[in-house]
Amino acid sequence: MTRAPGIHLEVFGSAPHGVWSAPGRVNLIGEHTDYNDGLVLPIALPQRTYAACSPRDDGLLRVHSAQAGATVEVDLASVGPGSPAGWTAYVAGVLWALAQDGHDVRGMDVTVDSEVPVGAGLSSSAALECAVGAAASDLFGLGLLADDASRARLATACVRAENDVAGAPTGGMDQSASLLCRADHALLLDCRTGATEHVSFVLGAGPGADAGHGHVLLVTDTRAEHALNDGQYAQRVASCESAAAELGVSSLRDVDPTGLEGSLAVLSDDVLRRRARHVVTEIARVRAAVAALRQHDLVEVGRLFDASHASLRDDYEVSCDELDVSVEAARAAGALGARMTGGGFGGSSIALLPADAVADAERAIAAAFAERGWRAPASFAVTAGDSAHRDA
Ligand code: GLA
Repeated sequence: MTRAPGIHLEVFGSAPHGVWSAPGRVNLIGEHTDYNDGLVLPIALPQRTYAACSPRDDGLLRVHSAQAGATVEVDLASVGPGSPAGWTAYVAGVLWALAQDGHDVRGMDVTVDSEVPVGAGLSSSAALECAVGAAASDLFGLGLLADDASRARLATACVRAENDVAGAPTGGMDQSASLLCRADHALLLDCRTGATEHVSFVLGAGPGADAGHGHVLLVTDTRAEHALNDGQYAQRVASCESAAAELGVSSLRDVDPTGLEGSLAVLSDDVLRRRARHVVTEIARVRAAVAALRQHDLVEVGRLFDASHASLRDDYEVSCDELDVSVEAARAAGALGARMTGGGFGGSSIALLPADAVADAERAIAAAFAERGWRAPASFAVTAGDSAHRDA
């Protein structure tokens, strides 16, 4: 599905100073743990968002998006919490957040085109923020792509754009993945300390492949719309904060998974107990998945995917029928494991499949959706891609 977008040709009638790109992501495991100081394990997608950009020095931002089919002008002085609304928040918000950090950011012409499906839970918004952030860093000499520590600071600015300007109270996983992932590796990110490890993730056959030869990670965009600023996500964040407060810890990261049921018994209601159980067991599953990947034990990785999905469906209640059906159909077609990925309430699932079962799984998922009269899903195999960089 990857194509070369034609955006590098011009920005508002003239050649751009450069083209930058940043990837979407899928999280292998560690869902709804980032805002609990937990662990996550995303890979960058091969699909990227491209931004052709030129600097301006009049405080104006002009953005054209091929996906939105629209051109918008924003005076940077007018940008702040809640403004502008819509997709331009992801662009203007990054320049605003960088200015808030004391950087001299004077305006830009930006043309955006993207391979990352929008609204599919694959972090198209983070890809947009990080492509624009990468461009601003180079165009204004900020040096924020120089090393992982600088990239982490840029990720923080992109998260602020999303939280403060776009009004989605998300954690930092997506922007960190887009700026810190490496090709052929998953990123183990400790959201409390910011520490990272790059864990080899090469499933395909051939030289250089890990022992998972002949396996494939299949992403299925269920086309069930998901939104992170509709209140459900914020409710989960609030439940975790309440559970941590009742347990007397600063975050659920501090709850020991050993003897968990005993610790959770003190919580005031069953909903908080289930939310906390998900977070604590999911953080443990990330550790287990990293160990299994290092031992090339894909059967165990699959088992952990299944357990993660059950926990997100039953305890955290962020799955939906389309995600459950796609996961079950993939398993019935031979997946070692499958789970929803991202925030949930729609979006995408992932399945770990033997290569020779992929076509069957795609057919089975499509048939299960057709039987129920749902929109056709879009399934595609992915490998671990590279982080944000300058393309031209
Ligand atoms: C969304 C958010 C992330 C993270 C995931 C769930 O993708 O943007 O910060 O919380 O949901 O793991």
